[in-house]
Amino acid sequence: MAEEQKQQLFTEQLKRIIAEKRERLRRPVRYHITTMGCQMNARDSEKLSGVLSEIGCAETDSEDADILLFNTCTVRENANEKLYGHLGIVKHFKKVNPDMLIGICGCMMQEKDEVLRIRQKYHFVNLVFGTHNIWKFPELLYACETEKQRVFDVEEQRDAFRDHMPVKRKLRFKSGVNIMYGCNNFCTYCIVPYVRGREQSREPEDILAEVRALVADGVKEIMLLGQNVNSYGKTLERPVGFADLLRRVCRVQGLQRVRFMTPHPKDLSDDLIAAIRENPKVCRHLHLPLQSGSTGILRRMNRRYTKEAYLSLVDKIKRELPDVGLTTDIIVGFPGETEEDFQDTLDVVRRCHFQSAFTFIYSKRSGTPAASFEEQVAPEVVADRMKRLIELVQSQAGTVADRDQGNVMPVLVEEEDSHAEGYLTGRLGNNLMVHFPGDRSLIGEIVDVELTESKGFYYMGRRKE
Ligand code: 5AD
Ligand code: SF4
Repeated sequence: MAEEQKQQLFTEQLKRIIAEKRERLRRPVRYHITTMGCQMNARDSEKLSGVLSEIGCAETDSEDADILLFNTCTVRENANEKLYGHLGIVKHFKKVNPDMLIGICGCMMQEKDEVLRIRQKYHFVNLVFGTHNIWKFPELLYACETEKQRVFDVEEQRDAFRDHMPVKRKLRFKSGVNIMYGCNNFCTYCIVPYVRGREQSREPEDILAEVRALVADGVKEIMLLGQNVNSYGKTLERPVGFADLLRRVCRVQGLQRVRFMTPHPKDLSDDLIAAIRENPKVCRHLHLPLQSGSTGILRRMNRRYTKEAYLSLVDKIKRELPDVGLTTDIIVGFPGETEEDFQDTLDVVRRCHFQSAFTFIYSKRSGTPAASFEEQVAPEVVADRMKRLIELVQSQAGTVADRDQGNVMPVLVEEEDSHAEGYLTGRLGNNLMVHFPGDRSLIGEIVDVELTESKGFYYMGRRKE
């Protein structure tokens, strides 16, 4: 039997089990998913949510639920600590509600040591699965519900794509679409290639079919997702470039905005810049991880570009796409980073004028090459560099945002403003947020807003009709 049908059968069985539970409890069976990490995980959680709502569970905001899932990240050590922090709290919920089912999935569960720790020390966790077999969720949940024993199922490799899971989107008008899985770059600090596996691209026809279906279902903005979108399609039987995929996605009727995450500076092609320039649907936002401004550190990170190459790429992007908002990721305190190396990072930041930057303290991930590099940088030195970097990034972000003050720009309205009654929050193409007065009926619409006041990393605005 095809896997898809098999999972559908488990889904049908689960519907019956959940209906019985609901009768017994005389209330809805509540589920909650706590998602950590990146957009990929956010998308995976929408798939898990799709299964749980299809079998008749009701979503709740609280972790005090009947079915609780943690979709984990492991990119830095503090992501791992976060999971254990949550587990310490929810253990008490389970004492009150012994029927509670607690599951953990995501990148951290692809690490053998972590799974062992959960198995041995966290007996109240019922279910563990990984990133490669998330499509098996109905079968695993069924096993948990019927066998009344702990279910641990993690696969080391992805054998094929199984993209048939139902999806419950967080926002009805916005969606991620996976275009590829895994990463082949092996940056020396990064654990992703070990937990997400080798690069594998989806067929363009499958991606386009998904985009069309989403648009028919009311989606206005799509984000194409991959660890390194520039290498999309290289390993397909009939290779397709990312720029071509982007052009084809833009041609989908009714789709209004397209974003993508994340390109790698080493192979961001002229053709991709051209595809962005010629397609107004592509949002003017590029997230281009720098990691370090020092050519020596970049070499030891295995990033395969130099400081000069990054700077000239940014020059070219700004020339070709003058209204683009550039954002980046920077790691501080990579082993062996000297003050001079750090000065190179500050220099690049000064010259690139990032709209914003995610700054991370280097975190040693066991199994990666950098974990065995000597010359770890002293914590107080790292803290001092981090402070100086953040100050620079923030002072520049303000000037970048000021550039658009007074302009009228299209905004996709996402939600009611949580800080001010009667206000809405929306997103510009360049990814900056705008708060402006308006009625909630505008949520999901693209409206023109005058950016009356720049607040550095967001704006206050007024709707222009
Ligand atoms: N330590 C610190 N930051 C890291 N990142 C990835 N691995 C590490 C690590 N070991 C950061 C990179 C990447 C982002 C998603 O996380 O900047 O772009
Ligand atoms: Fe990690 Fe580098 Fe791959 Fe990004 S490109 S996921 S930083 S190995």
